Amino acid sequence: MGFEKRILCIGAGYVGGPTMAMIAHKCPQYRVTVVDIDHERIARWNSDDLPIFEPGLDEVVKAARGRNLFFSTEIEREIEASEIIFVSVNTPTKAFGAGAGMAADLQYWDRTARQIREHARSHKIIVEKSTLPVKTAQAMERILTAEDNGVGFDVLSNPEFLAEGTAIKDLEDPDRVLIGSRQTPEGLKARDTLVEIYANWVPRERIICSNIWSSELSKLVANAFLAQRISSINSISALCEKADADVQEVARAVGMDSRVGDRFLNASVGFGGSCFKKDILNLVYICRHYDLNEVADYWEGVIRINDFQKERFILNMLDVMFNTLAQKRICLLGFAFKADTGDTRESPAIFVAKRLVEERATVVITDPKALDNAREDLKELGGEISFVEDPYQACAGSCAIAVMTEWGIYRGLDFERIYRSMSKPAFVFDGRNILDHEGLFQIGFNVFPIGKPGRTHF
Ligand code: UDX
Ligand code: ADP
Repeated sequence: MGFEKRILCIGAGYVGGPTMAMIAHKCPQYRVTVVDIDHERIARWNSDDLPIFEPGLDEVVKAARGRNLFFSTEIEREIEASEIIFVSVNTPTKAFGAGAGMAADLQYWDRTARQIREHARSHKIIVEKSTLPVKTAQAMERILTAEDNGVGFDVLSNPEFLAEGTAIKDLEDPDRVLIGSRQTPEGLKARDTLVEIYANWVPRERIICSNIWSSELSKLVANAFLAQRISSINSISALCEKADADVQEVARAVGMDSRVGDRFLNASVGFGGSCFKKDILNLVYICRHYDLNEVADYWEGVIRINDFQKERFILNMLDVMFNTLAQKRICLLGFAFKADTGDTRESPAIFVAKRLVEERATVVITDPKALDNAREDLKELGGEISFVEDPYQACAGSCAIAVMTEWGIYRGLDFERIYRSMSKPAFVFDGRNILDHEGLFQIGFNVFPIGKPGRTHF
């Protein structure tokens, strides 16, 4: 069968994989290939054991794989063969040199731009999918055109707004699709090509267009605003614990104002994930670059509150557990940075586990999907850490349980049974406010939610 278009995505990660699977699923008339340098990852995309856990992803991949969706490591051949190339390689925070700990590390992305230039034999539309610092498209254009190989390139910015755990729903029914392009005739033509792809399933009024720099910046700002809401409610949670208020009641009252809205106001042990911190640091770095230090300080405050919230969680445990955690068995319920994913990048659980080990606690970790990543994250830590699949076994013999991830299954656990198996006095620290705090107190637990005064039996 002849395909209408050949689409390539470089980078088969949490963004590239699901996004391309959705395009292939919705558009059988296109041939969609996803490539990666990581051979093992590609092998898993071609197997029944996909490299990422995402509700609904298996079905979408199975429906299109082998028909018009392909996973491959033949990067050069696929660059040559495709008309549209999405770039979805990782852009972590730089760990070395100038801008370390702040700026984006663009080495993977730079390498990809050069590889495209080397192997392109015909005109290509390049689509930036990874979140990148503002003006990266310009740098991409410069690399692509630095050697005249006789082919033209149009670079578009098309940031992905999907959230992990709801990626398939977000891709299928996005609030908006944003496409940034140059305002030249060629730029607008490339933009229209991409609009046509999304218009196969996204209503046209939700596909919005802008210039490239606005598009790049919008992605950083969207994440900064979302993270800011969490830090705002988390800062208030600290006050609620002191002032006998209940942060959930406050959030409900505030969120019912339609100008504020009720989403993303769940106080927690802190936000995690690969995007929020990285994107805010990026924003801060750009602001400092332009000498906008007040603006940079303002956004940096969002991260400072998140760090404060994580540290506060540990200090509270230490305080109420009689100022020592040494040799105490503490069970972390959940390790993923949020429910419905196995991803642990920047998970607050990593911080909590490390601090508990520093306090010489015996740490037991359980999670339905993230134990492999948790083992990897903590492999160099030393200390007493174990990983247990069954939550009842994980809790048995513990002095305290700390909820790190809001997995639905934890709500339904038999806490009477867990209480009986624990060392007394038994504590619950609910870092996600998902449990029945009154019920737990009645069972006998000493209960410490986020943003509500704790209750003890002593
Ligand atoms: C985020 C953005 O939502 C998404 O649009 C962007 O494309 C990528 O970054 P993601 O990191 O996958 O998505 O998950 P998100 O649902 O935003 O949660 C981020 C973190 O905030 C998680 O640790 C979550 O538990 C925490 N969170 C979220 C809270 O602590 N409270 C809330 O009310 C909401
Ligand atoms: P994200 O969450 O943004 O999707 P991931 O780290 O999950 O980020 O995925 C990025 C993917 O990009 C990884 O699978 C990595 O192996 C891949 N990658 C990095 N550099 C290259 C490259 N030069 N060519 C192909 N793939 C690359």
